[in-house]
Amino acid sequence: MGIPAGQTAIITGGARGIGHGIAKRLARGGCRVILWDVDFAAFEAEVQEFTPLLTQKVDVSDYASVEAAFAEALRVAGSIEILVNNAGINGPVLPFWEYPVETWHKVRAIDLDSVFYCCRVAVPHMRAQKYGRIVNIASMAGKDGVPFISGYSAAKAGVIGFTKAIAKELAQDGVIVNAIAPAMAETGLMKEMTQAHIDAMKAKIPMGRFLQIDEVGALVAWIASPECSFTTGFVFDLSGGRTTY
Ligand SMILES: NC(=O)c1ccc[n+]([C@@H]2O[C@H](COP(=O)([O-])OP(=O)(O)OC[C@H]3O[C@@H](n4cnc5c(N)ncnc54)[C@H](O)[C@@H]3O)[C@@H](O)[C@H]2O)c1
Repeated sequence: MGIPAGQTAIITGGARGIGHGIAKRLARGGCRVILWDVDFAAFEAEVQEFTPLLTQKVDVSDYASVEAAFAEALRVAGSIEILVNNAGINGPVLPFWEYPVETWHKVRAIDLDSVFYCCRVAVPHMRAQKYGRIVNIASMAGKDGVPFISGYSAAKAGVIGFTKAIAKELAQDGVIVNAIAPAMAETGLMKEMTQAHIDAMKAKIPMGRFLQIDEVGALVAWIASPECSFTTGFVFDLSGGRTTY
């Protein structure tokens, strides 16, 4: 069954990496995709296997920018059925006692506040149409608490808590909200990490390899479909066996 052709998905941070992989997978199934990103250079540099309905330059950590972008997306698409909150940054790999305060705020704003902002603008529309699927991209770091990326770990734990809270608020409205917790995939996010940190993260994965972007797309395609009908407020695992809860 999958996502019915003609449904529209907004994917934040969709210009590259995991968000781009999710967009490609959803588009392959006939979904119309709208990409939000601050930087489309990587997207424009490659020949694409899909044509987005719309690409919008949006800073998801800025509420006014999110509000204006959603209004424009709705005007063009007519309705939005799916929201994938994927945009995120890692921030520095540092002991928390050396973590710059302004960087803490930046990581929290892009990784957590953005998820609230995007849900805040999309949910009234989804409630009105009595249908919506929201997928928040959290991280294993939000479950485990990974040393030296405390800002990221805290923000992603916040995404998990927010997902569980709003899923209950929306449980009778036809709007289903879940998160996924990926282990490490090889994307642009790695540029912010040290090699020692990357090696330590890989060593934690029992399957002994990194996550493939296609594996994220495959899981999100199901969570974002009508077939995911009795699971809400859940954190889906993509950890190669790392998760213990
Ligand atoms: N790569 C991993 O190992 C991994 C593991 C777990 C979770 N994640 C999560 O997956 C998501 C995607 O990460 P990725 O690995 O593809 O990283 P990436 O750096 O390749 O892509 C992130 C995208 O988000 C965009 N972005 C950054 N700040 C933005 C903002 N303020 N507004 C709009 N767009 C913005 C970037 O321009 C980029 O296109 C993130 O939330 C990340 O935390 C990644």
